[in-house]
Amino acid sequence: AFNLKNRNFLKLLDFTQQEIKFLLKLAQDLKTAKYTGNEQPRLLGKNIALIFEKSSTRTRCAFEVAAHDQGAHVTYLGPSGSQIGHKESMKDTARVLGRMYDGIEYRGYGQKIVEELAEYAGVPVWNGLTDEFHPTQILADFLTMMENTDMPLNQVSYAYLGDARNNMANSLLVGGAIMGMDVRIVGPKSLQPDADLVKQCEQIAEKSGATITVTDNVEKGVEGCDFLYTDVWVSMGEPDEVWKERIDILLPYQINSKTMELTGNPSCKFLHCLPAFHNRETKVGEDIYQKFGLDGMEVTEDVFESPSSIVFDQAENRMHTIKAVMVATLGS
Ligand code: CP
Ligand code: NVA
Repeated sequence: AFNLKNRNFLKLLDFTQQEIKFLLKLAQDLKTAKYTGNEQPRLLGKNIALIFEKSSTRTRCAFEVAAHDQGAHVTYLGPSGSQIGHKESMKDTARVLGRMYDGIEYRGYGQKIVEELAEYAGVPVWNGLTDEFHPTQILADFLTMMENTDMPLNQVSYAYLGDARNNMANSLLVGGAIMGMDVRIVGPKSLQPDADLVKQCEQIAEKSGATITVTDNVEKGVEGCDFLYTDVWVSMGEPDEVWKERIDILLPYQINSKTMELTGNPSCKFLHCLPAFHNRETKVGEDIYQKFGLDGMEVTEDVFESPSSIVFDQAENRMHTIKAVMVATLGS
C-alpha cells in the first residue's frame, strides 16, 4: 500500500496517479465503513486546527465531521478573532500551531501562503481552498464520478464551463491530466487557465494518456461528455463589481438544458462544487438577477434540480474524501 504519512496536501500536482487512486479507494472504504457501522477511529487523540480566512459550509463541516468520526478534536479559527494576518505572520503562526496541533487545514488567498504554512508548521497541512487551487474538492468530484459510471476514470470525459481561470478550473485541469481523463476546459479566451499551467498539464497528459482541450467553443467542448461541471462566476475574494462584466462574457457558458443536450449524451450528469447561483435566492450584493433579467447564473434551476444533477452526492463526498486525506497523512 501507499504511505502518505506526514505528507502535506497542498495541490494535486504534488501527487501521482497511484497516490490519488489510493486516496479515492481509502475514501470509498471509509464511506462503506461508516454506512455499515464498522468505522475504526484512526485519528484518536489527534488535535487539528482549521484556519478559514474565507467563508465555508462544506469544507469546514467536512473536516469537523470527518475528524469527529475518526476520534480527533478540532479548533476552528475563522476569518476574524485570531492574530493571523493582522498581528502575526504566517511563518510565526505556523511555528506556534505546529507545537500544539498534529495537522492543520488552511483556506485562504494565495497558494504561497498555504505553502509557507506547510514549510514552517512541521505537521501535515491540507489546502482547503486557495485562489489557485481546491484540491480536496477534486477528490470528492472524482469519487462522485466513479459512483456514477461503470467506466474507469481514464475513460471518463468531462467539461468545465464558465470562469475557466479560477481555482476549480485549474484543479479540474490538473486532476484530469494526472488521472488520464478526457478534460475540456471551456470559457472565453480572457478567462482561460494560465498558459504555463496548461503546458504543465499537457506534459503530464503525455504520460497519463489524458486528453486536454482548452477552448472557447461550447459545442466542441461539451460534445460526448459524461459530466458537465461549472462553478460561480465570481469567486471569494473578488469584488462584487466584476459581476456585470462576468455576466456579459460568461452567459454563453451557462449550463442550461440546451447545454446538456449539446453533449449528445442522455446520461450526462451535472456537477457543481457549490455554492451555486441557480435561482434568485442567492444574493450577490444587489439584485443583479433583476438587473440582468436572469433567474440563474452559471446553471439554470431546471438543470440544477434535474435527475441528472448529482451535486448533493458530491457535497457528501467532500466529507469521505477529506477523511481519507486526514487518515492517510496523519492516521495510525
Ligand atoms: N465546495 C466548497 O468548498 O464549499 P464551501 O465553500 O462551502 O466549503
Ligand atoms: N471558485 C469558488 C469555489 C468555491 C468552493 C471560490 O473560490 O469562491
